[in-house]
Amino acid sequence: ADEPLVLGIETSCDETGVGIVRGHTLLADAIASSVDEHARFGGVVPEVASRAHLEAMVPTIDRALKEAGVSAKDLDGIAVTAGPGLAGALLVGVSAAKAYAYALGKPLYGVNHLASHICVDQLEHGALPEPTMALLVSGGHSSLLLSTDITSDVRPMGATIDDAAGEAFDKIARVLNLGFPGGPVIDRYAKEGDPKAIAFPRGLTGPRDAAYDFSFSGLKTAVARWIEAKRAAGEEVPVRDVAASFQEAVVDVLTRKAVRACKDQGVDHLMIGGGVAANSRLRVLAQERCEAAGIRLRVPRPKLCTDNGAMVAALGAEMVARNRAASDWDLSADSSLPV
Ligand code: KG4
Repeated sequence: ADEPLVLGIETSCDETGVGIVRGHTLLADAIASSVDEHARFGGVVPEVASRAHLEAMVPTIDRALKEAGVSAKDLDGIAVTAGPGLAGALLVGVSAAKAYAYALGKPLYGVNHLASHICVDQLEHGALPEPTMALLVSGGHSSLLLSTDITSDVRPMGATIDDAAGEAFDKIARVLNLGFPGGPVIDRYAKEGDPKAIAFPRGLTGPRDAAYDFSFSGLKTAVARWIEAKRAAGEEVPVRDVAASFQEAVVDVLTRKAVRACKDQGVDHLMIGGGVAANSRLRVLAQERCEAAGIRLRVPRPKLCTDNGAMVAALGAEMVARNRAASDWDLSADSSLPV
């Protein structure tokens, strides 16, 4: 096969991910997560994440090669997340990628984490149309990006000005004593609640607000205050209705702005990625609104939406396929790398 065989390494946060793809075909997706080590701190501890990557790196690369049934010497390139992310965590992946690429005599491709989150959809639905609008929503990001060339032209249209969408889910789950991470459990409770029970605020949706930016901190405060008031009055908190109404406020704004961005820019493909893309209500509402607007929606399966190495390999393969220049050996990690 003449499709590029690429290994991708992802270490921007708490997952050590190593994926192998041939063109748009996923061959291996090995992951080691340090999430349990962070749970008792209530969030990711950078130093702990870096050490965990260092321990997991080589075994995870070996596992991916074995899973794919390919030999490292047949690779056409090694791709790695160069940023954005936790600096120390990124450095482990970049160092490993350099060592393997140099030792094997393969080209090295430093790629952007957000562009990889978009490109991963090629492994699910085939070649990504260009242009495509992307809504990336996770614990660390909430962005609208316009991709006209996934290897070189991904333009930020808007982003959260405070909390990321996933962060809001996690914080509200904590206030409701539902545990961490909050997204999946709120999703579950919301299924049995009434999304119209409580009218929580929709951030940045006024006529003078930035059309494509997001804000979830006002919503988070409003929900917390509402719960406190119930508790202070000695009343029971209707957890399912709160979960459903809060979730509706988040996904209403996300889908409304994503569809508006598509319409304004004349783009008829929307992809949604990141951990929050697993949200069942987001998927349903996005599908409804896209259909009404004549937009084709692409959402990869949840395992490809969260951080993984396959997405890095997918973008690396695209770089090879389009004859993009490889990175220099002095490639560095950049915690705030722009797309
Ligand atoms: O992409 P991801 O695994 O990594 C981070 O950026 O941390 O995203 C994790 C985030 C968490 O905030 C989690 O609560 C959220 O995605 N999440 C969800 C759902 N599943 C995961 N949020 C809403 N609904 C879900 N079903």
